[in-house]
Amino acid sequence: MLFDDISRCCDGHLAISGILFLLLIGALTAISTHVFFTVGESAVRFTVPIPPQLQSEYRWSREHEDKGDEPPDEARPCPIICTVYHGRIYPRCPADGRRLGPPVTPANASAIDSAISAAAQAQVEWSQTSFAERRRVLRTLLRYVLDHQEQIVAACCLDSGKTKIDACFGEILVTVEKLQWTIKHGARALYRSRRPTNLLMCYKSNTVIYEPLGVVAACVSWNYPFHNFISPVISALFAGNAIVVKPSEQTCWSTFYFIDIIRGALRACNHSSDLVQNVVCLPEAADYLTSHPGLNHITFIGSREIAHKVCTSAAKSLTPVTVELGGKDPAIVLDDPTTIRTIDDVASILMRGVFQSAGQNCIGTERVIALPAIHDRLLAKVLPKITSLRLGSVLHSSPNNPPDMGAMISSRSFSRLENLISSAVAQGATLHCGGRRHSHPEYPHGIYFAPTLLSNVTPEMEIAQAELFAPVFLLMKAGDVESAIRIANSTNYALGASVFGHNRCDVQKCVKEIKAGMVAVNDFGAYYACSLPFGGVKGSGYGRFGGDEGLRALSNVKAICEDSPWARALGIQTRIPPKLQYPVSSHGWEVCKAVVGTGYAYTLGLSEWVGCVVRLLTALMKNADQGR
Ligand SMILES: *[C@@H]1O[C@H](CO)[C@@H](O)[C@H](O)[C@H]1NC(C)=O
Ligand SMILES: *[C@@H]1O[C@H](CO)[C@@H](O)[C@H](O)[C@H]1NC(C)=O
Ligand SMILES: *[C@@H]1O[C@H](CO)[C@@H](O)[C@H](O)[C@H]1NC(C)=O
Repeated sequence: MLFDDISRCCDGHLAISGILFLLLIGALTAISTHVFFTVGESAVRFTVPIPPQLQSEYRWSREHEDKGDEPPDEARPCPIICTVYHGRIYPRCPADGRRLGPPVTPANASAIDSAISAAAQAQVEWSQTSFAERRRVLRTLLRYVLDHQEQIVAACCLDSGKTKIDACFGEILVTVEKLQWTIKHGARALYRSRRPTNLLMCYKSNTVIYEPLGVVAACVSWNYPFHNFISPVISALFAGNAIVVKPSEQTCWSTFYFIDIIRGALRACNHSSDLVQNVVCLPEAADYLTSHPGLNHITFIGSREIAHKVCTSAAKSLTPVTVELGGKDPAIVLDDPTTIRTIDDVASILMRGVFQSAGQNCIGTERVIALPAIHDRLLAKVLPKITSLRLGSVLHSSPNNPPDMGAMISSRSFSRLENLISSAVAQGATLHCGGRRHSHPEYPHGIYFAPTLLSNVTPEMEIAQAELFAPVFLLMKAGDVESAIRIANSTNYALGASVFGHNRCDVQKCVKEIKAGMVAVNDFGAYYACSLPFGGVKGSGYGRFGGDEGLRALSNVKAICEDSPWARALGIQTRIPPKLQYPVSSHGWEVCKAVVGTGYAYTLGLSEWVGCVVRLLTALMKNADQGR
């Protein structure tokens, strides 16, 4: 990723030229923005209340814990964060188990009805706004996010237990990228486009326009509390829609701040804040939401198990769904001399690919497939890096000793993970480190899984097939490029993939033959940091968000066919020949057949076409004779 390049530049002699290059590009863009983007589009400053828990002087007390219906410990299978108890949600920080605030009462059916109808009402006016007005809202959000990185990152760290660097990459960087991409390129994706016509319809002019759908919804997962929440909002608003977002109950605490930010930006630009609704609800009400006839599209990000339920429910009102599920993303590491020479870079990119957000990343690298000449070197490089990862919470650690890896969202998956790892070992895999849950000496109520390195993994093992969503580096050996691709293709998933290599031919072969929705070459997840269309195939889901495709997916693609201006000027318009009008004449069929031939046979060759024209003229003459 770019950040890696910058820091690499800073270390080496390329520092000055690398930074100067970035400064030059930045300056040119800033100047052109300043010159070309009119006053009417500039960002507006606004403020919203910042949760007191995000302020460093906040005094955490047991206040919330002592009041009311705190779930007893035995109701909290040790330790599952965010217990639902007596129909209420108790938000906690997975890094140390602290309670984040008072319990949350989830929305019921009538709250969902009012959210959707308020959104629908606000959308009527919003659908009439210009791209410039929508860009202004996004610029206003961009400014807020850049000015409040600290607070947003802190909210994400508290709610999900991740580290600040993980949050900076996964929450902030990707969000400001999406904002900027939509500001710069969104309108182009939604402009009306002209479409070709044909010989028979030569007097027609064809246009496709992208209209707002109305109210859309997004049901999103907990692994990126801020980004997953705001990303569908950015696309929905820009396409002229209103949106209802249903965050995961695991990370609903921070979404009350995030919805304030989004609504603050809308209000600052004098638009209705009802356009965006935050619906925190439990599965039963979620079913009511996803089958609601008031919704025109649903974006679902989560697990396959829940996707079946969402799609079944959405089918009741035939609402289209974009389904983004997990993956078992492969990273193929080729063994050409350049790749071997740059193995340090490959190893550090793979470390981020595997351990970013403690592996709880849908495009996390879940399998590293190495060719023979690089396999052992790679193992030797990553082992010390993995054993020295420091686990912990950003809440307590001193700035001089930040944790490398944060907590897991819940311990629910731990027994399954431990079983998968031990059966892999029983089948011949080598466990170098980790392999089980980690009880952190400083945070007895925190939820941690030890960073794990497993080598000699083969495709037959269940661990090579199942999505782990955990900090596990799986190393697999492939004899050659062909078998590396075969291993990469051997799972039920097909979301993202990486290829590391410098032999153009081998790299292209991998890019072409790996079954996936996205491929990064010599990088991890870079396609996401460039706002390319995002989504998978096979068991990883369908549909795309991000990029032009993502905006169009939230639009009604309306096709318009009308007479061209020149045809109107000449008075040409569709007329059904008398003999084809009802009731049809006996020569009607011949005329019709010859018209089709004349319209389409010319693509096959001149002589065929001439034959058709002759038949058409003959049929018309017969027709005319008969008509007389
Ligand atoms: C739904 O929740 C609201 C507010 O929490 C409550 O006033 C209302 O009675 C509930 N409605 C139903 C049908 O349970
Ligand atoms: C919003 O409306 C107020 C009052 O009409 C006006 O003063 C303000 O400039 C408007 N803000 C924007 C961003 O258009
Ligand atoms: C990988 O899968 C793709 C798509 O199914 C296929 O075209 C390709 O031949 C496969 N490659 C190998 C080596 O199995």
